[in-house]
Amino acid sequence: MKFDPNVPSTTESGERRESDALSLSVGPNGPLLLHDVNLVQKLARFDRERVPERSPHAKGSGAFGTFEVTGDVTAYTKASVFQPGAKVRTLHRFSTVAGELGSPDTWRDVRGFAARFYTDEGNLDIVGNNTPVFFVRDPMKFPDFIHSQKRTPDSGLRSANMQWDFWTLSPESAHQVSYLMGDRGLPRSWRTMNGYSSHTYMWVNAQGERFFVKYHFLSDQGVENMSGEEATRLAGEDADFHRRDLFEAIQRGEYPSWTLHVQVMPYEDAKTYRFNPFDLTKVWPKADYPRIEVGKYTLNENPVNHYAQIEQAAFSPSNTVPGTGVSPDKMLLARVFSYPDAQRHRIGTNYNQLPVNQPINAVNSYDKEGFMQYHHSGDAPVYAPNSYGRSYQSEGVVENGWEADGELVRSAYTLHAEDSDWVQAHNLVRGVYDDEQRARLVDTVVGSLDGVVEPVLSRVFEYWKNIDQEVGQAIQDKYNAGDDERETELVGTSA
Ligand code: HEM
Repeated sequence: MKFDPNVPSTTESGERRESDALSLSVGPNGPLLLHDVNLVQKLARFDRERVPERSPHAKGSGAFGTFEVTGDVTAYTKASVFQPGAKVRTLHRFSTVAGELGSPDTWRDVRGFAARFYTDEGNLDIVGNNTPVFFVRDPMKFPDFIHSQKRTPDSGLRSANMQWDFWTLSPESAHQVSYLMGDRGLPRSWRTMNGYSSHTYMWVNAQGERFFVKYHFLSDQGVENMSGEEATRLAGEDADFHRRDLFEAIQRGEYPSWTLHVQVMPYEDAKTYRFNPFDLTKVWPKADYPRIEVGKYTLNENPVNHYAQIEQAAFSPSNTVPGTGVSPDKMLLARVFSYPDAQRHRIGTNYNQLPVNQPINAVNSYDKEGFMQYHHSGDAPVYAPNSYGRSYQSEGVVENGWEADGELVRSAYTLHAEDSDWVQAHNLVRGVYDDEQRARLVDTVVGSLDGVVEPVLSRVFEYWKNIDQEVGQAIQDKYNAGDDERETELVGTSA
């Protein structure tokens, strides 16, 4: 704790407070007074304590740490943060997607994995998840997807019927839903899960050559998940189970770490690769693009103030540095707009001036003023170009771009040779999961069907049969067997 016990409590303007315990009244039993600045300020500030929670990913926590380069990726990127010997400070936030600010950490969900590197070239943020793919591939569907995972308009309850209605009408969700309903939907702790950029990003090397990359953070603690029963119990016993686990591990000096890898695809490969490499519902099989080690990512410093350092942190995929960039992934291109927009609303126009969001290098931006401006450019020219020495860029050099041409359309991506909504989901469920994992998957899906009604229910069975005929049939059979049990119970009750 950092405070001086000799400094008396004051108002926000610095005047010594008369009391932190008693309001000013006319006589001991009398009415209160508007000029009691001590009380009025305290209540007015209390009334304004809450800012909007993040629209998705509201519940989470995080820590600071370090990133140290251990591999050699100079052939692929010139970013200073990835050069041999580089070591930078980092900030990290883990989260659930659908739950609100106070929701339990152990509800089944995808987990957010947001990493910030404070580099000498600006902040680099990789805002990913603990799964390598996502539910949809066009950003137009993202708000609908989130709405379907949150609450119904009438009861304000969450609804399995609404979730499955959206998923079964959006077959591109099959791969991610197969992850979510699998063991990865319930990580034991944030320390024991991997993180993925999921998206394809771009890297540019010192020669100007371009590559497409996917980031993988592999947990040095190993991957460990928990059972549905344990997760449900913990949701009741300790809603902050994951938050507590991380904070206490760091407090004990057990610093969790991840080894950062990249998959690298030469720029030209993207055009003819068997899957569309920008489709966020697809992975790049490691046999095609093996993982290359980049460095060690360690969390070793707890926040001293959760609100200032975690709640007000503003991660965004738009935060890139020279030698990195975005790709033609439509979801990523939309996120680049959406995050700073959300943060201007959630935190305030000048959110980048807060200590946790400030880059460590010098900022020279012509953007100015607005609510709560603190840093400013003094009397420097406020326009570019100018004749008075404040620097500006007049050339439009784009190092990390790509060719694009064509009519304006609203269309799905053009298909690559092996693109399909089902094939990679099938490979996961049949080729990666073993018998026990598949059995747990069937149980989890059947367990998630409480409250699901026709026509959604039949579509759920079809959806899973499209992923894997046997698994789909097992889900249907188990559900129907449960129906019989439910009927028997009802008969028993009425008898
Ligand atoms: C078009 C698609 C998407 C849109 C429009 C979108 C939008 C948003 C918004 C508005 C926030 C809250 C930002 C804030 O208030 O600070 C957010 C948070 C987040 N999103 Fe997305 N998102 C999209 C897709 C994704 C995908 C594909 C991933 C993972 C690969 C992802 C991971 C996250 C994470 C981890 C957070 C929490 C960041 C933190 O800890 O502060 N989102 N998203």
